[in-house]
Amino acid sequence: MTRRPKMHLVAYLRTNSTASYAGGWRHPAAPLDDVWSPERYQSLARLLENACFDAGFFADNLALPDLYKGRIDDYIGRGGQASLLDPMIALPIMAAATTRLGLGATLSTTFNEPYHLARSLGSLDLVSGGRAAWNIVSSTMDCEARNFGLPAMPDKETRYDRADDVLEACTKLWDSWDAEALVMDRGSGVFADTSRIRAADHDGPFVRVKGPLGIPRSPQGQPVLMQAGSSPRALPLAIAAAAAVPRR
Ligand SMILES: Cc1cc2nc3c(=O)[nH]c(=O)nc-3n(C[C@H](O)[C@H](O)[C@H](O)COP(=O)(O)O)c2cc1C
Repeated sequence: MTRRPKMHLVAYLRTNSTASYAGGWRHPAAPLDDVWSPERYQSLARLLENACFDAGFFADNLALPDLYKGRIDDYIGRGGQASLLDPMIALPIMAAATTRLGLGATLSTTFNEPYHLARSLGSLDLVSGGRAAWNIVSSTMDCEARNFGLPAMPDKETRYDRADDVLEACTKLWDSWDAEALVMDRGSGVFADTSRIRAADHDGPFVRVKGPLGIPRSPQGQPVLMQAGSSPRALPLAIAAAAAVPRR
């Protein structure tokens, strides 16, 4: 019997009414006033799950883009893509409304420490019953750098070097708890078997973290890793991530 190839569908989302289609927000039927409403994210998640999507992921940046003429006037003023809500708030709401849909967060390796990343993504994996995904980005815009005390973005080589280091540190943090470490046995009074919890001891060129992570091992062990860079320098990170390589 021939096996029919299976298509995988992952939706590109924004916490805004301006996602992929510029000007789409102006359509009379486009909802505009519910960007901060939990119901928007619940119904979006149900819609995707019922349409057999594997996952949805929120694209995200850490600044209002000033890509055109170095100002936000046109990009933001005319409804360009931007996040009007932290996606990490929307994703658990989507988890509560669904049972199978994968839930992706875009988080920057340049502007986050591995401990924050591992804890946030591990928490999302825990509350969603093992449905978290991480779109690993190193960020590209100088307006983002300026929100973190830098005048401009580090060069690509440096950003990807740090991304490799941050991913390695996160992996060690996610592996710092064995699956059986959380015992919670009322009878014996053993809450956690600390022999199954170990330090991460990561000492890399960019980030150092002792660990262990403060939350237990999540159902997937680590989130599904996504990576969209396609330059030669992005490939080692893509290979390390390797679960999903999105294309526009
Ligand atoms: C489908 C797709 C989604 C992306 N989403 C984001 C995003 O949400 N945030 C971000 O900072 N970069 C995003 N990027 C940019 C990539 O992470 C990467 O920086 C970019 O593709 C350039 O990398 P390269 O020069 O190695 O190809 C996205 C790219 C693609 C193709």
